[in-house]
Amino acid sequence: MKIGIIGAGNIGGNLTRRLTALGHDVYVANSRGPHTLTALAEETGATPVTVEEAPRGAEIVVVTIPLKAVPDLPSGLFDEAADGVAVIDTGNYYPRQRDGRIAAIEDEGLTESRWTERQLGHPVIKAFNGTYAQDILDRPLPAGDPDRIALPVAGDDEAAKRKVRDLIDELGFDTVDAGGLDDSWRQQPDTPVYGLRGGVEAVTKALAEASPERTPEFSG
Ligand SMILES: NC(=O)c1ccc[n+]([C@@H]2O[C@H](COP(=O)([O-])OP(=O)(O)OC[C@H]3O[C@@H](n4cnc5c(N)ncnc54)[C@H](OP(=O)(O)O)[C@@H]3O)[C@@H](O)[C@H]2O)c1
Repeated sequence: MKIGIIGAGNIGGNLTRRLTALGHDVYVANSRGPHTLTALAEETGATPVTVEEAPRGAEIVVVTIPLKAVPDLPSGLFDEAADGVAVIDTGNYYPRQRDGRIAAIEDEGLTESRWTERQLGHPVIKAFNGTYAQDILDRPLPAGDPDRIALPVAGDDEAAKRKVRDLIDELGFDTVDAGGLDDSWRQQPDTPVYGLRGGVEAVTKALAEASPERTPEFSG
C-alpha cells in the first residue's frame, strides 16, 4: 500500500520504520525538506519527499506533527491522494508545554481531532495519539496473544476507520472502536486510556470511564 507520512519525529519516524518493514511503500516528509531525511531513508527504504508530495496517490496518510503546526500545512493537501484516502491524526493538544492556547478547542469545546480536521479540510481518523512512540517498535504482538496492546480508534468515516484498524492490526496491535470524532475526547491527554498499555477489555473500560472535563494541566 502507498502510505504518506507527514512528520518524521518520534511517531512518524517509528511508523516509517515499521511500515517499510511490512513492505509498504512509504513517502515521508518533515518541515525542513527531503534533504534532511536521508538517514531515515537509508535506514528504512522510505522515500523522502516534500509535504505536498507525501499524500499523492496514497491510500493512507498519517499527519503526525505538533498540533500548533497543523494550520501551517498547505491547503488542498489531499487533493491528489487515492480515492477514499484515510487520513490518520495522531495529534494531542498540549497548551502549556507546546501548542499555546487554541480558542476553538477550549471555547467551542471542539475535540482536538475535530479542530485538526477543520484545519486540514479533510476527515480524519484519530489513532496512536495515546501510544508511546517507542511501543510502535517494541511492543507489536501477533493477533490472539493475550498480552497484545489495543489502541482506541475514533472517526466518522467507517470505511476509512476500517482501513486504519486493519493497518494497526498488521502493525501488531488490537484496536477498539472509540466512536465518532465528537467522542474522541475519551482518548485525549489525561484520560484513563491515554498512555494505557492494555488489551481490548482494559481499553474499552478506560474509554467508558473518561470525563469530558478538560483538566487544568491541559487547558491554556
Ligand atoms: N512522542 C510520542 O510518544 C507521541 C505519542 C502519541 C502521540 N503523539 C503526538 O503526535 C504528534 C507528533 O509527535 P512526535 O512526538 O512524533 O513529534 P516530534 O518528534 O516533535 O516530531 C514532529 C515532526 O513534525 C514535523 N513538522 C513540524 N511542523 C511541520 C510542518 N509544518 N510541516 C511538516 N512537518 C512538520 C517535524 O519536522 P522538522 O523536524 O523538520 O521540523 C518533525 O518531523 C504530536 O501531536 C504528539 O502530541 C506523540
